[in-house]
Amino acid sequence: MIKSKIAGIGYNVPKNIVSNFDLEKMMDTSDEWIQTRTGIRERRWVEDGMANSDLALPACQQAIRMAGIQVKDIDAIIVGTVTSDYNFPGMAPIIQQKLGITSNIRAFDISAACSAFIYLLEIGDQFIQTSKYKNILLVGSDVMSCTLDKTPNGRATGVLFGDGAGAVILSPATDDSCILSTHTFADGSGVENLHGKAPGSKFYPNRINKEIIEQGHHFITQNGREVFKNAVTRMPEAVKLAMEENNLAIEDIKLVIAHQANARILEACATKMQLPEEKMYMNIHKYGNTTAGTIPIAMCEAIQEGRFQKGDIILLTAFGAGYTWASAAIRW
Ligand code: ACO
Repeated sequence: MIKSKIAGIGYNVPKNIVSNFDLEKMMDTSDEWIQTRTGIRERRWVEDGMANSDLALPACQQAIRMAGIQVKDIDAIIVGTVTSDYNFPGMAPIIQQKLGITSNIRAFDISAACSAFIYLLEIGDQFIQTSKYKNILLVGSDVMSCTLDKTPNGRATGVLFGDGAGAVILSPATDDSCILSTHTFADGSGVENLHGKAPGSKFYPNRINKEIIEQGHHFITQNGREVFKNAVTRMPEAVKLAMEENNLAIEDIKLVIAHQANARILEACATKMQLPEEKMYMNIHKYGNTTAGTIPIAMCEAIQEGRFQKGDIILLTAFGAGYTWASAAIRW
């Protein structure tokens, strides 16, 4: 059977650093509260005028370069995001245009929030396994800073998120390096605990108007405690399935790269998985939660730091709005 591999990977974060001390001036919060509750020290927020596709483009270009292909070799672009440039169409055709791809390849978005990158891997992996497409550009990218209530009313959620983008080229495996498995799940009973409602047809006959904005429906809203409880249950469950399917013991795993939402969530997951601390990757202190961007950004930084090499087995896992959650096992 044909397997897929990550042939190239790239990431991009905005230059603009927003520290917890900067947030103290906006949100009636404190560096101490944020660090203790979340482990976040700073995050990046785009400057005015930078759309999600602008942020994602350099990540895509890096991934394409590393894969050693030309843009004309890309057969499909799939983007995972909840903060596309426009309400519609998706961001994938915008990326297609910005990359200068003039052939009529397929390009579409999926909405699976923080789990999007692993959902993308599963979709891309299926297209490669069936030989439908050869080189697929997968992009996980979000500009969460434009969804936040940056006043004291929004402090419980506003301090958590940053902006960031990651991209990979998925191609047919040529040796042992490949995606070993993916598992994706959803539980719609979580919708009310984590969402951004507007613009939406729920508000028919409008999608957005002054009243909807005054009620704050265009901001991300969550029940943090419920989300926390579900995240620390679902990610270890998904990792267990990946380990069982591939007959893996903890000793076989070089690194777990989990969605970066909160250092306490990552620590609790590591404890449940009986995973030594050093095998749970963390860069949340620098970027906060970049939604679809966290996993590919963390993978890139882990590679730069020499945390895994060719032949090593890494596990990915994520949890987010929907609820959605997922895991993937990769032999690098
Ligand atoms: N600064 C200062 N005080 C704050 C802030 C803030 N930014 N936010 C809330 N508080 C206050 C609250 O008002 C409350 O005060 P009170 O006791 O006087 O009422 C107190 O701090 C405790 O608030 P809690 O909400 O109970 O704090 P908790 O310990 O649960 O931490 C947090 C909140 C960090 C949001 C946590 O629940 C969490 O991380 N949940 C997961 C949410 C998440 O990661 N969502 C992202 C999307 S999903 C995902 O990526 C997994």
